[in-house]
Amino acid sequence: MPEKTLPSSCKLEFKSYQDWNGDRPSQTLIFHSNGSLWWIKVVVDWSLPGSILDLGYFQRRSMFQKFVEAVDFGQLQLLEDTVTMITLSLTEQSQNSITIRDGYQTPANFFIAVAHQMCCKITEDPKRVIYPTLDRARCLPTFEASCLQNVEVVAPTVSTVSINQHTFAYKKIDRPIYEPGDTNHILDEIDALAQLRGQPNIAQLVGLVVSENPYKTCPSTDMPAVITGFLLEYYPGGSLEQIIEEAEVQNGSLPLKWAVQIGRALESLHKRGRSHLDIKPSNIVFDARKNAILIDISGTGGYTWEWLSPEMQMLIQQSCEIAPAKASFEARIATDCWAYGRLLSTIAEKSGTGADAKLQSVADDLTKAAFEARISLGDALEKLQEKDDE
Ligand SMILES: Nc1ncnc2c1ncn2[C@@H]1O[C@H](COP(=O)(O)OP(=O)(O)O)[C@@H](O)[C@H]1O
Ligand SMILES: [Mg+2]
Repeated sequence: MPEKTLPSSCKLEFKSYQDWNGDRPSQTLIFHSNGSLWWIKVVVDWSLPGSILDLGYFQRRSMFQKFVEAVDFGQLQLLEDTVTMITLSLTEQSQNSITIRDGYQTPANFFIAVAHQMCCKITEDPKRVIYPTLDRARCLPTFEASCLQNVEVVAPTVSTVSINQHTFAYKKIDRPIYEPGDTNHILDEIDALAQLRGQPNIAQLVGLVVSENPYKTCPSTDMPAVITGFLLEYYPGGSLEQIIEEAEVQNGSLPLKWAVQIGRALESLHKRGRSHLDIKPSNIVFDARKNAILIDISGTGGYTWEWLSPEMQMLIQQSCEIAPAKASFEARIATDCWAYGRLLSTIAEKSGTGADAKLQSVADDLTKAAFEARISLGDALEKLQEKDDE
């Protein structure tokens, strides 16, 4: 029996695997051959039998990956400089069939056993990660992705990286669950961060991370550099969400200081015609001196239902299409202020210090049921800074 290895000039590099409760598996990979590379996503387009669905995750993934290893990708018309989606379906006809390489035939693997009945459709993967080309007009410092040393994954979208022994937060376009709108949200976040550079209590943009186009098939092709994400100053004090989860009791004036800092940061966004729309504990981090820093400021990325004002919730329920980012500026500002009120209330509950009564009172004024009865952000900031003995 021939040895089961790929020709020495070919290599498969597995990327993400996905299935839906065991069904419709898909595997993304890079097929390297003779110095060129092709990104490929292999997708199963029929319902698998119960015997496969009942297998554990790792067994299912391993079975599908063994099948993918057996496929002769060299026989297929792969698309260059993008992600080729190979959709497999079961059929009686022998057109567009896939070839299993010599030595890989085995009835023990379900997919290999039925490969002779499979036909494949080749298209460009519509859900591929889109990397924007680097627009030099942005005039921001750039860092080559290959020069970054990964240190630690802190969230699905954010890792810490080190450059010359200095730590930064790297927010990436590529992420475990990428939605086609994510690229534009990152570009919006870069615009917002660039506009708010130098502003206190708002995350500071260090620069863009760039690389050659990851999908480039032939190394000698001339293609413009792309943006893969951006670098922020790294704030080592953890997020407000972590602090709340750990139920850390804060002493002294910290909760009040944070409330004022977050309010001022929000005010500086609003003054520049921007809204945040995702004010919540995971979007506040702390620097080494325990100052609160507002992050995730695209104004268009995700939102969290329970942190939207009741009016914004109603607006979205009434017109299913609308996202908070599409609402009027006034409505967006109002939902930010309401969320800020909720945030103050959350801090007050956890603070257990003398500041909690004041925080709770301002929080109540910002989140009153009747919209007209609520105080403005400016008034809230004034009340927070009033001296208690006055
Ligand atoms: N500059 C930073 N310094 C420290 N931690 C950060 C920084 N930026 C993000 N994080 C951490 O990563 C998490 C996700 O970042 P965020 O920008 O909110 O991404 P997402 O858009 O996925 O919510 C945050 O909740 C925080 O814990
Ligand atoms: Mg966030």
